[in-house]
Amino acid sequence: MLPEAILKEEKKELAFVGKKIPRVDAKEKVSGRPIYVRDLAPKVCYHAKIVRSTRPHARIKNIDVSEVLKIPGVVDVITADDIPGINFVDAIIPDKPFLAKDEVNYVGEEIAIVVAIDKETAELAAKKVKVEYEDLPFEIDFDIDKIEPNRIICDSRIEKGDVEKGFKEATYVIEETFETGAQEHAYIEPQGVFADASGDIIEIKAATQCPYYVQKNVSKILGVPLHKVKVTATMVGGGFGGKEEDPSWIAALCALASYKVGRPVILDYDREEDMLSTTKRHPSKIRIKIGVDEEGKFTAIEAKVVLDGGAYGTITPAVLFLAVQVVSGPYKWPNVKIYGVAVKTNRPPSGAFRGFGAPQAVFAIESAIDILAEKMGINPIQLRMINGLEGGSKTVTTQKLGDDVGFKESLEIADNISEFSRKRELYTKHNEGRVIKKGIGLAGAWTIIGLGPGGYPEDRGIVYVQFTIDGRLVVNVGVTEMGQGSLTVIKQMAAEIFGMKLEDVEVIIGDTLALLDTGPTVASRTTFVIGNALRDAARKLKPIIFETALEISEKISEPLEIRDSMVFSHDKSVSIPISEITRHAYTKHKMLTAIGWYSPPRTYINEKGLGEPFYAYIFATHVAEVEVDTETGAVKVLNVWAVHDSGKIINPVTASGQVEGGIVQGMGLALFEKFVYENGKMINNNFTDYLIPTIKDAPNIHVRFVEKTSPEGPFGAKGIGEIPLVASIPAIINAISHAIGRRIKKIPATYEDIYFLCRANKK
Ligand code: MTE
Ligand code: MOS
Repeated sequence: MLPEAILKEEKKELAFVGKKIPRVDAKEKVSGRPIYVRDLAPKVCYHAKIVRSTRPHARIKNIDVSEVLKIPGVVDVITADDIPGINFVDAIIPDKPFLAKDEVNYVGEEIAIVVAIDKETAELAAKKVKVEYEDLPFEIDFDIDKIEPNRIICDSRIEKGDVEKGFKEATYVIEETFETGAQEHAYIEPQGVFADASGDIIEIKAATQCPYYVQKNVSKILGVPLHKVKVTATMVGGGFGGKEEDPSWIAALCALASYKVGRPVILDYDREEDMLSTTKRHPSKIRIKIGVDEEGKFTAIEAKVVLDGGAYGTITPAVLFLAVQVVSGPYKWPNVKIYGVAVKTNRPPSGAFRGFGAPQAVFAIESAIDILAEKMGINPIQLRMINGLEGGSKTVTTQKLGDDVGFKESLEIADNISEFSRKRELYTKHNEGRVIKKGIGLAGAWTIIGLGPGGYPEDRGIVYVQFTIDGRLVVNVGVTEMGQGSLTVIKQMAAEIFGMKLEDVEVIIGDTLALLDTGPTVASRTTFVIGNALRDAARKLKPIIFETALEISEKISEPLEIRDSMVFSHDKSVSIPISEITRHAYTKHKMLTAIGWYSPPRTYINEKGLGEPFYAYIFATHVAEVEVDTETGAVKVLNVWAVHDSGKIINPVTASGQVEGGIVQGMGLALFEKFVYENGKMINNNFTDYLIPTIKDAPNIHVRFVEKTSPEGPFGAKGIGEIPLVASIPAIINAISHAIGRRIKKIPATYEDIYFLCRANKK
């Protein structure tokens, strides 16, 4: 059968895709089955504790471990001198030492590893390691106008047309600067790793989004070949990007400890240690100048995007790249000049975090557009409608989009279901002279899926699929489940593509040596690349199933199809259970195993930043309705209407879950989450003093999907994991700004900030 004919089968009425299939991991999670790394480590093993810098920037003059080794129960203390391989963490910029030797650049930086027979002894001993410092000047902030060249990590730009000319043609021009803060991932499960390097193969169990990054880092730092490192990615208790890079060095710390002492070791961070030392969202300062002509058409955008990369470069170039790509929003721009730069500070390295630069950038542009609409005196929806991207539009980088652009539909639907336009006027009148003011705000959003031109070599989808002798389909895949629902969605797609019953499909994840490297579980790309890899596997395996069916039965006639784990003739008159076919195929030595491979469309940019940097774009509109007590600054987010175009939705329940969670996590960055520093040291690294939204703060959330199907995606799907967070922040902030009649330009805007803003002179 030709591949086209097989693909046509997918167009039939769908049995599982688009259906509310319950999560496959729900039962084991709610019943407390041992699935996380701390459950899976043996009860008896050594414990590691990290000795960390107490200074934001200092030269290390001496490390004295003599007293520590005398403590009963202490097994070893490991420093940079004990590293057999390379003392740098592998990353886009591999500048972060694995263990600091001569210098430290943030409070919490790793200096030494103490190994002891139990956790208490390890913790006690770690405090006794004497590190002698010579303090150096430090920075935890930066000035957008004065960036010292020696602090620059990287830069990125897009240039198109002539912005000077564009601003001359404009009737209205505004220029504003916006700021966003750092954010903690606040996964429920703190970072943790178990390692056993006592045998020939170094075995690691880690809560990680990227088991192959862990494998590579352990191999480099220990100086052993890749195939000697076996990483089992356990179920992840929340990652949100925070388990993208960090586990690479946390696992290597644990593995090195085990390697040196020759025994199994566990390294499990507690909350304070995790918050102090792991990566955070990049703080940003973004200046945007935009112009619009008499007809309401955008004429030019000039933007400067500055990100705080923290102490080391690591993943920052990729985050900056995306911030620059999306800072112009989902709009058409004839003239563009965007410059992005990342600077060093003495904070923990900034890292991957849901949205990956887009939340900062989209908050800035969507605030700026609201300011411009206000200046023009028009409905903010209208301005977005005039300029919004649609099917066939060209993006900021001149990439021609296909028909799968549902942005304007999302604006329209959001307006209708929230009654935005009506309430906007109503609340403006209602608020006059009142203490409790109501507001409604709207924001468009776009972002991408996939790794972009820089990450293209790793942006693949691979599955290893097998029909077992008893007629079940086993899908092995090197992705991780961190709550986003990938296990469920992959199972649905596999069942649909192969025509199997859901209960006859098994999805197995988790082991780097047994599986094939399908790249990292990041950038909302799992559904897209794995769905496509499954299609490829089906193209290879289905013909063998059909050929075997024809061998078994003389009555069955082509074209054949698989449904409900049975092979049917086209007129449905004859059917054979898959199990009968697989049994027969095995006895005839037919190979019922296939590797499904997917290579996404090539992505690229030129020296001006123009080109086709991503293979898929996704869109959303959020509307938020809020109530602000102007005497206290307290905000209640009452409702959020979230309309998303992520292509075909594979599972409406898990997809809505992504939207709901993303909105609340965005609320955190918008209103609550703020790290406080004193003398270069973070002082609120706990959930008492660092506030995140809880279920009591969560608004009513109304989710809708505009399913503009992608021609490239499986069943037309794209991705949904990150964009809800991106869209919710400017919607909430625009709503509060509407309520209080003052513009918020810096987030988090805490209740206290809002209180003072209400008292400030109106601007
Ligand atoms: N949802 C839950 N529940 N937990 C998570 O850790 N991570 C987010 C998002 N949704 C996350 C989540 C991030 S940062 C990404 S990149 C995507 O899920 C990754 O999963 P996907 O490729 O399956 O969309
Ligand atoms: Mo997500 S920030 O790409 O892990």
